[in-house]
Amino acid sequence: MASQCEENKHDKPIVYQEELLHPELQQMIDENFTIVWPDQVDKFRKKIVALLVCKNPSPVNGELLDKFPAVKVVGKNGVGYDAVDVGACKARGIRIGNTPGTLNDTTADMAFALLLATARRVCEGDHICRDPATKSFDLNSFGYQVSGQVMGIVGLGRIGMEVAKRGRAFSMTVLYHNRRQCDGAVEKELSVSYIPSLHELLQKSDFVVVVVPGSKENVKLFGKTEFAAMKRSAVFINVSRGVVVDQDALVAALSSNQIAAAGLDVTTPEPLPRDHPLLSLSNVTITPHWGSATLVTRKRMMEMTIKNILAGVRGEPMPGEVLN
Ligand code: DGY
Repeated sequence: MASQCEENKHDKPIVYQEELLHPELQQMIDENFTIVWPDQVDKFRKKIVALLVCKNPSPVNGELLDKFPAVKVVGKNGVGYDAVDVGACKARGIRIGNTPGTLNDTTADMAFALLLATARRVCEGDHICRDPATKSFDLNSFGYQVSGQVMGIVGLGRIGMEVAKRGRAFSMTVLYHNRRQCDGAVEKELSVSYIPSLHELLQKSDFVVVVVPGSKENVKLFGKTEFAAMKRSAVFINVSRGVVVDQDALVAALSSNQIAAAGLDVTTPEPLPRDHPLLSLSNVTITPHWGSATLVTRKRMMEMTIKNILAGVRGEPMPGEVLN
């Protein structure tokens, strides 16, 4: 049972949390903080010094922050901080911590899991095998070749680099597009080639893997024109944020076979409404934002989040601070 803020006997920082986590993560939290849950806010809000943010139902905006006059730090348990209003925090002198470097390999694994599952139609195959009506297998039902094909990574940051390594392990030619070209030594080590034009990368790639941050400048980065630039056999993979895709344009591209298939770990909203057209397309694989969802990684993330909050409360340098 997670701790409740009755009396802060142990002098631990008082932290607001909205959702109960896995027992092992909650134990890490409880060892370091006294937690205030939403139903206790009225009693303790003036004592809360930090907000622990996971997939919070409430956006971290000025309205929420104004409820907590003593808050010094927002601890985002993750790398992406698009759900945190950075300006509102800055205006109130509140620091923001995040967890870069904790989930690169796990998220790259998820990107590759989706890439393989989507290209080789793993979910459809599973369905066929379980279907009571199945009497025999169709010998001419094909997926798309992965090994030796061209992968275009959009956003060669920490996670993108891990995706590149996995691509090389599958003998793929790896291209990338970033706003800025990476250092030559990095390109050499990863065996990746820079393509300055996004459209050129889309035209050349059999697999397009999106790993850009969900920042304002990337909203609807992939729309009608971008899907039209891709090969008809292209498989589109998104493990960044749903907002980077114009979903109506994606539905149109998939239903008209303008592109072959998509593997999505992120959508807008999450989960999608039950009647959303993406859910009825057989050439789409969707997972529930599981990029970092292994206990090993979530513990690594929580360790850094706790360190960030403790440092922020003490006014010390944070291991991962969002600077603005
Ligand atoms: C992140 O780090 O932003 C991830 O989406 C959390 O799982």
